[in-house]
Parts: sequence; structure tokens; C-alpha cells
Amino acid sequence: MTERCLPTIVVLISGRGSNLQAICEAVMYGAIHARIGAVISNQPEAAGLEFARGAGITTEIIDHRTFSSRPDFDAALAATIDRFTPDLVVLAGFMRILGAVFVQRYLGRLINIHPSLLPHYPGLNTHQQALADGVAQHGATVHYVTAEVDTGPIIAQASVAVEPGDTTESLAERVLSREHVLYPTVIEWICRGDVCLDEGRALLRKEPFPTTDFDELMQLLC
Ligand code: GRF
Repeated sequence: MTERCLPTIVVLISGRGSNLQAICEAVMYGAIHARIGAVISNQPEAAGLEFARGAGITTEIIDHRTFSSRPDFDAALAATIDRFTPDLVVLAGFMRILGAVFVQRYLGRLINIHPSLLPHYPGLNTHQQALADGVAQHGATVHYVTAEVDTGPIIAQASVAVEPGDTTESLAERVLSREHVLYPTVIEWICRGDVCLDEGRALLRKEPFPTTDFDELMQLLC
């Protein structure tokens, strides 16, 4: 396949960018059949921008603090994204809530990774909450983005066992290392057309998902 035929991904970040790095590496090693058109950050100092520049990827900064309203920020972000005509917009630690108009514009092309087994623990501080509740299983979820935060149709979830003695940091680290496999893999499934959003439902090869458990999906798809 020539580069021209590859789907284009735009990645939105706000910080560290470790998921961005995992996605870039998967693209470089041919595990994701796509090209990264651009990395866009709302934080000028995001560490992920440095990584992207070093990898030769176009970067853009749309600093939310320079806009007087949320819709104005969303519109500027969308205008920048659209310059790269992406097939898929990937939120990778993007810490701004996106408005309904923005979400509708990219519906079915906009995905997010969240560090919990949704619907458990939407929002922030997921690892602390999981530990406080004493749950046996925690993990990460990749989902399509809809107007309500962290509630869009789930594509896949990677679990980790909560171990005795786990701290927020140790649990976060284990979840993050699962994210770095989960997210690139799901992106490849979408890029090759195995996964799509249809009338508000995530579909796997045109059928409802038999499971959202990542390990079980890997058996089916890889
Ligand atoms: C990850 O925990 C992800 O689940 C959440 O934000 C964090 C981003 O980390 N949405 P990084 O910037 O990819 O390292």
C-alpha cells in the first residue's frame, strides 16, 4: 500500500504523551496501517509535543487560554484538525471537555482512552477510587466519544488485577502499560475497518461486539 492510501490519524494531547509514543511506535513498526497527520496540544509545554517533533510529526498548539469561550476554542481546534483531513481523531490524554458541536462533527471518527473499566470511575482520579473501593479488577477503556464525558460506546477494555499492597502509582503504572498495547491495537482495528460506529453502537465486523474484553477480542481478531 502506498502512503497516499493510508488512513490519516490526528492525535490530540495535553501532557506526557506516552500513549502518543506507543501509537507512533506502532505506526513506525507497521502495526498500525495509518499515517499520523499531526499532533495537536492545548498545552504549549506538553512533553508529548517534544516527542512528536523528534519523530518528525507536524505539531500544532491551540492554547485554550487564548480563547474567550469554549465554543471558540472548539471551533479553532476543529479548523486545525480539518487541515489534516483525518480519518480518525485520537484523544490521548487530552484534558479538555469537548462541546456537542465538536463531538457531532467527528462522530464515529473520534475515540478516547480512559484509565478505568467504564462505566466505573468516569472523570479524574480513577486509580485512587478503585483502590479506595477495594475492587479486584481495574483497567482501561477505549471508546467512541459522544457528547457526555466518558460514556460513549465502548470498543475494548483491558483489565489488570489489583494486587495487595498496590499504591496509586503502582496501579497507574500497570494500567498505563496495558493502555500502550490496547490503544494502538484498537486504532489498527478501526483503520482496517473491523470496528465502526453505527447508529450509536460500536460494531465489530458489522455485528454487535460479542465481548469488550481486550484479551478475548485479541483471540478473535489477531
Ligand atoms: C492516560 O492515563 C489516559 O488513559 C488518560 O490520560 C492519560 C494520558 O497519559 N486519558 P499519556 O499522556 O498518554 O502518557
